[in-house]
Amino acid sequence: MTTVLDLQRFKAEGKRFAMLTAYDYTTAQLLDAAEIPVLLVGDSAGMVMLGHPTTLPVTMDELVILARAVARGAHDALLVGDLPFLSYQVNVEDALRNAGRLLKEAGMHAVKLEGGGPLAVEATRRLTEAGIPVMGHLGLTPQSVHRMGGFKVQGKDPVVAARILAEAQGLEEAGAFAIVLEGIPAALAGKVTAALRIPTIGIGAGVACDGQVLVVHDLLGLSTGKKPRFVKEYAQLGLLVVEAARRFAAEVESGAFPDAEHSYSGALSVVGDGIGYGGR
Ligand code: KIV
Repeated sequence: MTTVLDLQRFKAEGKRFAMLTAYDYTTAQLLDAAEIPVLLVGDSAGMVMLGHPTTLPVTMDELVILARAVARGAHDALLVGDLPFLSYQVNVEDALRNAGRLLKEAGMHAVKLEGGGPLAVEATRRLTEAGIPVMGHLGLTPQSVHRMGGFKVQGKDPVVAARILAEAQGLEEAGAFAIVLEGIPAALAGKVTAALRIPTIGIGAGVACDGQVLVVHDLLGLSTGKKPRFVKEYAQLGLLVVEAARRFAAEVESGAFPDAEHSYSGALSVVGDGIGYGGR
């Protein structure tokens, strides 16, 4: 099984690694079979699974249900559960209780939280002290979508870039085992990656990061709507789903399905008032 120590070793050895999101049992099984070393039960579930326009409405209870399903399906990957909006920002006690739920109730091995301000740093320190590994998340942090005025690339301004670098160092110092860098210029991600001992995991942050993450729906071509620049589809499953559903409906309408191969045999015979079966 992949552990947080393996990720640090990967960085030391210059071995790049993949992380994907997962939100259900079946997908977790498939991604584990693909030997993806890290699975993130992201609060992006709020958008791709639950249909919300942002990640903000996701609750702890929802995240725990999804994370439990992933933990049942994946046995080799390091499992990281996302802390939803306001599950760790109010106070450190909340952060401990909610992160603890992801490990105790949902079978996660680590948690992820967004931001690099004093609260995030303090939460990272306390969770790490309590034995809960923390993955940070800087740059375009979706839970701050309204403060950022939309899902916009961060760190183009040198002042913000310097802040992101300082925050990454603060999270590392507080004990974070890895940091997601989302939606920042590739050059800045390279600088942050070079400055840290812990691995960075990029999404829309260029090739210099130690690892890369994608939302699994984006990877598989299941997402609808406008595709961000950083998304690469490795399959077009959405088209296959529509095509399969259309063929099923057409065969039902024409009577071609179910045919003999997909039906149970057995000659019916009427015996007195009842019904009996001949051979099967
Ligand atoms: O919620 C999520 O899926 C994430 C990844 C995109 C990093 O935070």
